[in-house]
Amino acid sequence: MLELHNVSKWFGGLPALQDVSFCIDPGRVTALIGPNGAGKSTLINCISGVDRAQTGSILLAKRPVEALPAHEIAALGVARTFQNLKLFARLSVLDNVLTGLTVSAERSFTVSMLRLPALRHQERQLKKNGWRWPAPS
Ligand SMILES: Nc1ncnc2c1ncn2[C@@H]1O[C@H](COP(=O)(O)OP(=O)(O)OP(=O)(O)O)[C@@H](O)[C@H]1O
Ligand SMILES: [Mg+2]
Repeated sequence: MLELHNVSKWFGGLPALQDVSFCIDPGRVTALIGPNGAGKSTLINCISGVDRAQTGSILLAKRPVEALPAHEIAALGVARTFQNLKLFARLSVLDNVLTGLTVSAERSFTVSMLRLPALRHQERQLKKNGWRWPAPS
């Protein structure tokens, strides 16, 4: 499902990631553990496109994603949270969660701005069924 090959990242002259390689199989829960400063967040940033590795390759279902922008990686099914949460204080808990699902929404700018029926239908569906990520192709 997810493959990393020799991923490295430096900040200035300091290595944060050095030749990180591993594979994660689908259908399993996998944890990344390590002491403070070990590079966990840096690695998650590189996988999700928030930051760029300087060397190596990252494959999602055999597709190279290391050069894709974060929103395209998210659309392929990579979801993440951040250590410092930024919630919308004026939204409900449910609406905050739904905000994270809008990456999957098939709707246009006009539909969203005018809150046309298609948008409300999709929101009802998300609230009722949740969202299942498509298998990356
Ligand atoms: N933007 C940055 N600029 C410079 N150095 C950075 C930057 N981000 C991370 N580092 C350095 O890279 C190394 C890895 O940091 P990272 O935040 O990835 O570790 P972590 O495993 O997530 O730590 P923690 O458990 O504290 O969250 C550390 O030495 C850190 O100081
Ligand atoms: Mg961290």
